[in-house]
Amino acid sequence: MKIISSIDELRDQLRGQLRTAFVPTMGNLHEGHLSLMRLARKHGDPVVASIFVNRLQFGPNEDFDKYPRTFQADVEKLEKEGVYVLFAPTEKDLYPEPQEFRVRPPDDLGNTLEGEFRPGFFAGVTTVVVKLFSCVGPRVAVFGKKDYQQLMIVRNMSRQFALPTEIIAAETYRAEDGLALSSRNMYLSAEERAEAPALFRTLNEVANEVRSGQLDIFNLEKKAMTKLVERGWKPDYISIRKRVDLQPPSAGDLAQGEPLVVLAAAKLGVTRLIDNLEI
Ligand code: PAF
Repeated sequence: MKIISSIDELRDQLRGQLRTAFVPTMGNLHEGHLSLMRLARKHGDPVVASIFVNRLQFGPNEDFDKYPRTFQADVEKLEKEGVYVLFAPTEKDLYPEPQEFRVRPPDDLGNTLEGEFRPGFFAGVTTVVVKLFSCVGPRVAVFGKKDYQQLMIVRNMSRQFALPTEIIAAETYRAEDGLALSSRNMYLSAEERAEAPALFRTLNEVANEVRSGQLDIFNLEKKAMTKLVERGWKPDYISIRKRVDLQPPSAGDLAQGEPLVVLAAAKLGVTRLIDNLEI
């Protein structure tokens, strides 16, 4: 595997490649990321991964400095997956001057759910994703459904800008007890780790109620939030949305069987976990 930090060198290395499959990451790789690499391999060749902890998507009180950086271990995992190039720019490589041009998602999609609790987050994501796409020139790029809203925003962005990159969605990779794998799980204490699968269980309960015809979604959301609070969580939201645009469904949407997804974000101790489930 070639490890490249400079944009010019990366472009030289990938010149002429028409079927590159790309997986952008912030490192601290776990099985979930590796499943994205395997899916990428099915959709293109060569597979290119990136590791870059993107300052633009962290709020002032978030964990940018503390974000786990495990470069050597990540390299070994990617080598085993047969990744051809790892693009690992420094901040100076990717942002040699202040990144004043930004890509901003539309308000209805970018300022709801995660966007409401992490202002500026999605503009940070879309800006770096466009820049990484511009460096790598991928034919396809793989994003996990674990970050459901991110996946939808990146997909809409790619479509609206007519980027030549098809966005492939990967299923969420879960531990046996249902907890979605995430780099931030490592902040959980042993006791919190034992409690953490309650988030996915709660999403399943909500989804099952909807499937069995309980359509008072306001009450379902409230009940689920209360349950988590009683178990010691601090939920930001549990929200049933339309899959197509992540907006709240109307009574008509519900009556017509509009495809839905339930999304949640909640803090357990100092760790903020997010998860979702298509209904
Ligand atoms: O999902 C992530 O790890 C990041 O948001 C991404 C897509 C690599 C952009 O920094």
